[in-house]
Amino acid sequence: MTIHIGAEAGQIAETVLMPGDPYRAKWAAHTFLDAPELVNETRGMLGYTGYWRGHRVTIQGSGMGMPSLSIYANELIRDYGARTLIRIGSCGAMQERVRLHDIVLAMTASSTSTPSTTLFRELSFAPCADWWLLQAAATAAHNRGAPHHVGGIYSSDTFYDERADLTEQLIRHGTLAVEMEAAELYTVAARYGARALAVLTVSDHLITGAHLDSAARERSFSDMVEIALTAAFDA
Ligand code: HPA
Repeated sequence: MTIHIGAEAGQIAETVLMPGDPYRAKWAAHTFLDAPELVNETRGMLGYTGYWRGHRVTIQGSGMGMPSLSIYANELIRDYGARTLIRIGSCGAMQERVRLHDIVLAMTASSTSTPSTTLFRELSFAPCADWWLLQAAATAAHNRGAPHHVGGIYSSDTFYDERADLTEQLIRHGTLAVEMEAAELYTVAARYGARALAVLTVSDHLITGAHLDSAARERSFSDMVEIALTAAFDA
């Protein structure tokens, strides 16, 4: 048991999928895992441990934004021995060619700051995905015929953004999509020598303004979870 996770020692698997939404953790655990067991409900941030094709997996909600994710990632790795952490979540597309439903595999994540920024002082640390997880996820997406993109994303501290100029520069520099957690996940994983990746589904489009309705979201999310699980155990 830690400050924010109620699971007993040994109840968390070495491989953890991290959706932002705790109810998505519940849905994914009951949809994809055999014998899912509720291992955390502290603050309603649901976490489940079960089996996927015989492999032990935990699906733990991270909450929204980097400060929340940082708490869970730190405790999962440091206190429970998690070694592979894969964020599964939604993102907003920042390039025309990136379409609704597409999968974005975040090779790197830019940010204006993360909860770890104070540690680096003047250094602009470059948070990046684990190469082997990234490669395995790209192969899994290809094998499923799921349209996917691999490249840099932006981990924002705001959903309701007021910095149109910054968005413009990020688009200009080829950033694929925006979400709110990956940069800190990659940084915390690097600190502890764990592996991390963000597998994202495009739920809305910053350029066209299009967005998925909830039924369409669920269908796309299935692809993302399967790709994440396949990558975790193929890499
Ligand atoms: N901004 C930030 N996070 C997001 C978005 C967005 O447009 N879409 C999905 N996650």
